[in-house]
Amino acid sequence: MRKLRIALTKGRLEKSAIELFRQMGLDVSALENKGRRLVLPVGDYEAVLAKSADVVTYVEHGVCDVGIVGRDTILEHGGSFFEMLDLKIGQCCFALAAMKDTDFFAGYTAKRIASKYPNVARRYFNQKGMDVDIIKIEGSVELAPLLGLSDGIVDIVESGNTLRENGLAVVEKIADISARVIVNTASLKMRKAEIDKLVNGLGDVEIHTG
Ligand code: PRP
Repeated sequence: MRKLRIALTKGRLEKSAIELFRQMGLDVSALENKGRRLVLPVGDYEAVLAKSADVVTYVEHGVCDVGIVGRDTILEHGGSFFEMLDLKIGQCCFALAAMKDTDFFAGYTAKRIASKYPNVARRYFNQKGMDVDIIKIEGSVELAPLLGLSDGIVDIVESGNTLRENGLAVVEKIADISARVIVNTASLKMRKAEIDKLVNGLGDVEIHTG
């Protein structure tokens, strides 16, 4: 049988995920010196590094048994898998933001919202019973209101620096975000003992990283 395979989200979550593995006593040297390799040994496991949405795809299809991915991606893309653990790393939130000192909710015309997370944005405004036009932006969403493209944004806020430095402010927090451990539904049945060991191991070290 192949090694248990873990899909890791590249970028922001990468460093803290590697730190969790190190604290579990796993050999993370290949992950730290990966070069251009995409499949890497981590202790007795095999890790792959992927973009967040692809982590979900690989886990859903069972080519990776376990994934570490932000709740932002889970909320935006949905999918069918088990969410087993909140790792408490990569903590931030989804928020509605607009230019500072403006009253976002004033007026009766439909607002324009820019977001990399159109599904999250749509659900949020549906719950409010507000009709909005959502424009999908791929990165640096804060630019949209600065350029006059949108009245507001739905985006991730971590330190709040990007908003502050661009004259924007949070109007309302939408949801808390942190990294989650997701597991393929078939893998959980077929390889339960191995997966429980890994998830419990990750659960035991989470408290030391904050
Ligand atoms: C995210 C998010 C904000 C920023 C928030 O972007 O879209 O722009 O981080 O962080 P802060 O509150 O600490 O300033 P990211 O850096 O992931 O890159 P992107 O804009 O290319 O999506």
